[in-house]
Amino acid sequence: MNILGVSAFYHDSAACLLIDGEIVAAAEEERFTRKKHDSGFPRSAIRYCLSQANVRAEDLDLVVFYDKPLLKFERLVETYLASWPRGFRMFATGVPVWLRQKLHIARELDQGLDRAYRKRFVFLEHHESHAASAFFPSPFEEAAILTLDGVGEWATSSIGVGSRNQIKLLRELRFPHSLGLLYSAFTYFTGFKVNSGEYKLMGLAPYGEPIYADTILTKLMDLKQDGSFRLNMEYFAYCYRDVMTTRKMDALFGGPPRRPEAPITTREMDLAASIQSATEEIVLRLARHAQELTGQRRLTMAGGVALNCVANGRLRREGPFDEIWIQPAAGDAGGALGAAMFAWHQLLEKPRTCDGRDKQKGSLLGPEYSAEQVKQYLDSIGAVYEYYADETALAERIAALIASENVVGHCAGRMEFGPRALGCRSILGDPRSAKMQSVMNLKIKFRESFRPFAPAVLRERAHELFEMEPGQESPYMLLVAGIRKELRIDPAHEAGPGPRLSGVARVTQVRSTLPAITHLDYSARVQTVDEERYPRFHKILKAFERRTGCPAVINTSFNVRGEPIVNTPEDSYRCFMGTKMDALVIENFLLFHAQQPDRAGADRDGYLARFALD
Ligand SMILES: [Fe+2]
Repeated sequence: MNILGVSAFYHDSAACLLIDGEIVAAAEEERFTRKKHDSGFPRSAIRYCLSQANVRAEDLDLVVFYDKPLLKFERLVETYLASWPRGFRMFATGVPVWLRQKLHIARELDQGLDRAYRKRFVFLEHHESHAASAFFPSPFEEAAILTLDGVGEWATSSIGVGSRNQIKLLRELRFPHSLGLLYSAFTYFTGFKVNSGEYKLMGLAPYGEPIYADTILTKLMDLKQDGSFRLNMEYFAYCYRDVMTTRKMDALFGGPPRRPEAPITTREMDLAASIQSATEEIVLRLARHAQELTGQRRLTMAGGVALNCVANGRLRREGPFDEIWIQPAAGDAGGALGAAMFAWHQLLEKPRTCDGRDKQKGSLLGPEYSAEQVKQYLDSIGAVYEYYADETALAERIAALIASENVVGHCAGRMEFGPRALGCRSILGDPRSAKMQSVMNLKIKFRESFRPFAPAVLRERAHELFEMEPGQESPYMLLVAGIRKELRIDPAHEAGPGPRLSGVARVTQVRSTLPAITHLDYSARVQTVDEERYPRFHKILKAFERRTGCPAVINTSFNVRGEPIVNTPEDSYRCFMGTKMDALVIENFLLFHAQQPDRAGADRDGYLARFALD
C-alpha cells in the first residue's frame, strides 16, 4: 500500500512516501529548487519520492495533506474581523493567493500528480500531523506527545498521548497565543529573519544575560503553572500587520527592533538570553503538565520549537521524562511524514510494532547518487579527482586531511530529511583547532562569526567528552549537552595582559580542549554517531580517533549562508568552488580545491549572490 504525505504552502514544503507503513523516502522541496524554506507546491520532492520506489502516481493508494486549508482560512478571516479595521492591508494582500491556490489544495495535488491519481485526498489537522510525526516513528510503544509550534489552523501547541498504533490529543493552546510566534517575535525584534533566524537567536543567547526573562514572563503574557499562557496582544502585531511587534514592545525594551545586518549589541544578546530562558521555562512547565496528564515516562516531540536543542537539553536534564525522542524534521516538512503515518496507523488501523529502534532510518530518506552518476558529472566539467575503490582507505585519507586542519565537504549516501546535516551532506573540520570556528564561519559559510559549530562524536565515547550518560544518544543533533568539566578552560584564567574581550569577540577565546565546538557557556549541540545508522561517517570518525585520539569532528551543514543544504554532486561541487573549502568528497571521489580548473571557480561572486542572506 502506497501512501504519499504532502506539506505545502506555509514554509518548508515536503513530501514523504510510505510503503506498507515503512518510510521509504522523504525530502524538502528546497533541496531541489535551491530556494531556502521553499513553500511552493513540492512537485520535485513528490517526483523524487515516487521515483525512489519506482511508484507511479496512479499506483498511489492514498494522498494525505498535512493540514486543513479551510480551517486555516477561517482563522485568517476571524482574526481579521477581530482586529478590524487594522488588518485590512494584510488581509487584502493575503486573500487572492488563498482564492487562487491555497483553498484548492485538491486541485493543486491533482495537477501536481499529473492528473494520474484517481483516488481520494485526505486532509489532517496541522497538529495531528506534527503529533503523528513525533510518536509513530519513535521507538516507544507508549509515550506522551508534545507539539510546540507557531500556528497551524488554530492550535499552536498540544499535549497528547500515543499508544501502539493510535494517538489522542488531550489539550491545546490556540492562536494567537503561541510559543513559536513569541520566539519568532523576538527573532524579528533582534533583527533576524522570522522562520529562519530562530537558530541564530538561540546561538546568540549565551553571550547575554537573561535580564528581561521576568519581564517577558510577566508583562508579555499571563503564564499558568501548567505552561499554558495568554499573550498580551498589545505587544504583538502579527495578527494584523506584516511585522511581529508593536511600539509598546519598543518602549518595554528600550528602542525599536535592530535593523537586519546592523551591529549586534548587548541589548540583542540580553534579549536572546531572556527569550531563551523564558522559552525553557514554558517548555518545562508544559512537559511537567504532559507528564501529569498522561502518566507516561517517555516523551515524543515535534513542531518548530522542538528544534530548540538548548531547551531540549534542559528538558532532558531537568524534566520529568526518562527518555525523549524528537522528530528530526520537527518543522512543517515533517508534517508530510506525520500525515502519511497518521493515515496508515490511525485511519487504516494498521498495527505498529516496536523493537526498541526508531523508524526514522537515521533520517537518511533523501536522494543518493551512484558512482557512475558522480563520475559522469565530474568528467563533464573537467574536474580533477582521485577515486578510492576502498572506503576504509578513503576514510583514513579524510581523517588525515581533517587532522591537518583542512576543511572537507562530504556528500555521500542518502540526503538527510530535516534541517540538520548528519554526515551525508556535511562540512567536516577539526574540533581541536582554535582557529577553525572563525575560519569556517567567515571563509566557508560566510555567516555571522558568533555562530557555534556542532560536534559529531562516536556514540560509544560521547560521555567521555560531554555531560551525557554512557550509551545516551543524540543521533539527530537535537540535544545540547555541556562539555565535561575536566576538558574546560576558563578564558579569564588563561588570558594574558591586554584588553578583555567583550561581546561576540569572545568567540575567539579558547574554552576547552575542543575549542571549535565549545560554545560560550561550555555547551555543545551533540550528534552521536553509531555504526548502525551511519556506517560511513562512523568509519571516518574511527579513523580520526585512531589518528588523533579525539573521537569527534566538527559537523556543519554543507551550504553557504542562505543556501539550502546541497543535494546533488553538482550542488556540492558548486558550493565547494564558491567557498574556501580545501577538499571535497563526493561518494568515493576526492577533490582538492587547488587542483580544480580555474573556470569552475570563476563565478564565485555570482554563486554567492544567488542566495539571499537569511
Ligand atoms: Fe507547524
